[in-house]
Amino acid sequence: MATVLTIRGGVPLTGQVSVRGAKNLVPKAMVAALLGSDASVLRNVPEIKDVDVVTSLLRLHGVEVVKEPQTGDLRLDPTKVKTAQMKDIDAHAGDSRIPILFCGPLIHAIGEAFIPDLGGCKIGDRPIDYHLEVLRQFGAVVEKREGGISISAPKGLKGAKLSLPYPSVGATEQVLLTATRAEGITELSGAAIEPEIMDLIAVLQKMGAIITVQTDRVIRIEGVRDLTGFKHRALPDRNEAASWASAALVTQGDIYVAGARQGDLTAFLNTYRKVGGSFDIDDNGIRFYHTGRKLSPLVLETDVHPGFMTDWQQPLVVGLTQAQGVSIVHETVYENRFGFTEALVRMGANIQLHRECLGSVPCRFGQRNFLHSAVISGATQLKGAEIHIPDLRGGFSHLIAALAATGSSRVTGIEIINRGYEHFQSKLEALGADFDVH
Ligand code: EPU
Repeated sequence: MATVLTIRGGVPLTGQVSVRGAKNLVPKAMVAALLGSDASVLRNVPEIKDVDVVTSLLRLHGVEVVKEPQTGDLRLDPTKVKTAQMKDIDAHAGDSRIPILFCGPLIHAIGEAFIPDLGGCKIGDRPIDYHLEVLRQFGAVVEKREGGISISAPKGLKGAKLSLPYPSVGATEQVLLTATRAEGITELSGAAIEPEIMDLIAVLQKMGAIITVQTDRVIRIEGVRDLTGFKHRALPDRNEAASWASAALVTQGDIYVAGARQGDLTAFLNTYRKVGGSFDIDDNGIRFYHTGRKLSPLVLETDVHPGFMTDWQQPLVVGLTQAQGVSIVHETVYENRFGFTEALVRMGANIQLHRECLGSVPCRFGQRNFLHSAVISGATQLKGAEIHIPDLRGGFSHLIAALAATGSSRVTGIEIINRGYEHFQSKLEALGADFDVH
């Protein structure tokens, strides 16, 4: 039977939570271990579903994944890597988007890869055309099969001059994981440069890769024949940190996020301050709090790094329902990341969605039929409602809306939150939230 969370709102969240390794780095560093000729050790690994999915896929391919019981560190040994049974891989169809990143490393290790149909949050079409195009340019042959795609490289993978139409995080990682052991030089222009990508580059450099990040989103990789294992501590999850920061704002609370790092959150911190949230930074984390004064509306556009990240948008929108006046948010990364506002409107928020680009720069969704701009008028008192969680960040946003609302909310679909928020129920409990789980 599905788990139901009953939340009684109105309690300011107060206390401390810790964030560990980033969901958007850890599974990819695990995939990188496949490229090594000996074992790797990954530290600061959170207990989230995306890590479980990748662990299971690696094991199917013969990689020994051992979790150190005390610390949770992962030891990943790829020395017995092998072809997996298609039906076993297929059982993971729809679980996550990470499997697409197995392509390059598996071709280097065993000459072929079968990738199941992908999962991940339903926040847009989320195609994989950039991934397949760069793989083809490396010399891979891509065939559509029932339940997934099959990829091989009969003539080996060769470095190439590549250019992405948009700085996609996943496609940049695809290039990094494929090019490091491809023959010759790869030059990628239009690359994404998110902190998680820089951390993946750090992992690959420890393994022996030669990667230069140049100006203007150009990354140059000199292929090497062999890589070793790595020992690495994953960078902290800045998206989880920003989510707890918004939770403090929305519930008029005060949360110290241990592990949060200023350098990864610059754009978020500027916005948080403009809305009227306050923060104190020390060497071990960041304290985020509501000052008790009214919050201010703002005009905001999501963007690729170093801009305001799309994953911060959803929790912050809940904060903007509590700001005095009209805010405008233009989502330029995903065409369909405002679906979660439907529940907020039912809870009493005043939010209108628009197809136009309500921002300073027209984005690639402007002349199409996507509701990708939001106008939020506040402040509105939120009230409890029945909520079914649609996606990871939207779901967390619903939780914090319910925690700030008057009355109680009945929330289903909370399993999705476990994909990216480690132990979120015990963290909520530690912060004083009033809820039951049945
Ligand atoms: N895109 C294409 N074709 C492709 C790949 C991407 O058109 O082949 C488009 C996407 O549809 C999207 C844009 O390019 O409109 C950017 O997508 P990107 O490839 O950058 O996203 P991703 O790699 O699939 C990662 C994170 C997301 C995060 C984005 C943007 C992981 C596992 N996921 O997704 O995180 O929002 O980068 O920074 O790293 C989340 O954590 O909740 C989450 C969705």
